[in-house]
Amino acid sequence: MAWPLHKPVLLEEAIHFLNPAPGQKIVDATIGGGGHAEQMLQRISPGGTLIGIDRDSESLKMAHERLKPLGGSFKLINKNFRFLREIISDLKIGGLDGILFDLGISSIQMETPQRGFSIRSPGPLDMRMDRNQTLTAKELINSLTESEIASLIKDLGEERFYRRIARAIVSARKRKEFENTAELARIICSSIPYSRRRWRIHPATRTFQALRIRVNDELFAIEEVLKEVPGFLKKGGRLCVISFHSLEDRIVKNALRELKAKGSFSVLTKKPVRPGPEEILRNPRSRSARLRAAVKL
Ligand SMILES: C[S@@+](CC[C@H](N)C(=O)[O-])C[C@H]1O[C@@H](n2cnc3c(N)ncnc32)[C@H](O)[C@@H]1O
Repeated sequence: MAWPLHKPVLLEEAIHFLNPAPGQKIVDATIGGGGHAEQMLQRISPGGTLIGIDRDSESLKMAHERLKPLGGSFKLINKNFRFLREIISDLKIGGLDGILFDLGISSIQMETPQRGFSIRSPGPLDMRMDRNQTLTAKELINSLTESEIASLIKDLGEERFYRRIARAIVSARKRKEFENTAELARIICSSIPYSRRRWRIHPATRTFQALRIRVNDELFAIEEVLKEVPGFLKKGGRLCVISFHSLEDRIVKNALRELKAKGSFSVLTKKPVRPGPEEILRNPRSRSARLRAAVKL
């Protein structure tokens, strides 16, 4: 089957910092459509192995289609990267030369209406990366109290109209439960005064971001796994993380600062690396990306 391709973000930069070479063992902890993995697999072959992880089984199918024709050695694993320790120990592959995290969701997940991530194309209020999980955005939005919704939108969406939005959601669901993304986006829009909308982004963007992060428990997974990364890398092994919003980037920045303070890592990116205007033009989704990298000493 021909899948639409996800355009990898900060590809050249990620390859530059990971510096993959023949014979190396690299983990792509968020393989998605396999964009970064494709480049890495080519560079570690012959003799190298790429381990690709994704909690979304459909992404793994896409990655498989993309990597298969390259002929190198790769293994794909359908798990949350939170379980990286178990994954690596089950594979008995020893120390790694590089680990990449390209956080969040892919444009393919975003653009598939049935996945419920998109504000613009109506779909069920789902937002699960792993479709075997039971918690969905629909359950959260129809069952949390007004103050729980307000805190969620404030903390995980950094949305300043969190009180108004939470009030409007709870009032609307008294009439009818929320079923789809379009109904939710409409209520959010109507709760923000016209004069105070920021037109650069859709008024529901931050609320959708908050719901997605909570449904998938995204921040916890990153925080946990970054504490364990030092144990997985060889001396000279490299860590590269691409994040897409300030909550993620803050976690990454603090984790790298701690590793540096312990003397076990050197940080390769003094400031986060951002996409240039050309990449943003080619792939507007890259606009908010920030890359940070470090090497184990
Ligand atoms: C931005 S996309 C990666 C795109 C990929 N680098 C490419 O070039 O095609 C992020 C992917 O990571 C997956 N993902 C996000 N959080 C995850 C987690 N905690 N464990 C495993 N996979 C995760 C998502 O399902 C998604 O497919």
